[in-house]
Amino acid sequence: MAAFGRGQIELKSPAQFKLMKEAGLILSAALDVAVAAADVGVSTAELDALFAEQLTKAGATSNFLGYYGYPATICTSVNEQVVHGIPNDRKLQDGDLVSIDGGAIVGGWHADSARTVIVGTADPADLKLSKLTEAAMWRGIAAMATASRVGEIGDAIDDYVTEAAGEKFGIIEDYTGHGIGSAMHMDPDVLNYRSRNRGPKLRPGMALAIEPLLVRGGIATRTLEDEWTVVTEDGQRAAHWEHSVAVHQNGIWVLTAPDGGAAKLAQFGVTPAPLP
Ligand code: MF3
Ligand code: CO
Repeated sequence: MAAFGRGQIELKSPAQFKLMKEAGLILSAALDVAVAAADVGVSTAELDALFAEQLTKAGATSNFLGYYGYPATICTSVNEQVVHGIPNDRKLQDGDLVSIDGGAIVGGWHADSARTVIVGTADPADLKLSKLTEAAMWRGIAAMATASRVGEIGDAIDDYVTEAAGEKFGIIEDYTGHGIGSAMHMDPDVLNYRSRNRGPKLRPGMALAIEPLLVRGGIATRTLEDEWTVVTEDGQRAAHWEHSVAVHQNGIWVLTAPDGGAAKLAQFGVTPAPLP
């Protein structure tokens, strides 16, 4: 949903990007703690409590908690859960694949980021799925450095997944990336696949959450009776990685990575530019 009129995309000032980066760094550190704690025998509710504590200590608030009534500060989506899994007392088991998706607000400005972890002994197929999803996310972010339209991000992700993995992995189409700024979900939608809709022009001042969701099987999803948890129809596992990224006059900067994405973007020949 957009906070602006049709086709209007919020353009951030340097001061607003500074607050988004603050939110992004707090979020990154809180995700570090939740990811490090994710282990066999630990419940997803415990991860939520740890994450919430980090935000509070750092002076940020949660954009997830209370969002359309959402009851936690992170989403924890385990195995066949694709996205929006609600933390609960379920203890993680050996080999579980869990995506931890969190957000933070500083001074009214939002950040949103997700990582997938595998606890205990990883099935090599799960490891491949998570690594491919992460790399596809970075490929999409790298495309932002040169793209003239938002649709080129989806082209890059789609081509990368096809070339890297052939037909064995699917890209979820029911959920997409999004604009972010004074709200968590804003225009434009950022598709993770090739589309005839080329999307709006990328312009300095825009911020986008890039978040591919990849599956080992079919891309059909359904929502459980809790009205949040999205699972694959075929029960196959899904992975999810996400970063919030700024486009500014000198280039791009990943707001939810301490190095702006430098280490991971190098493989795609992209050097992030510090915010003005
Ligand atoms: N990061 C999630 C997304 O972009 C937001 C989850 S909203 C919540 O889809 F309410 F579930 F927290
Ligand atoms: Co998001």
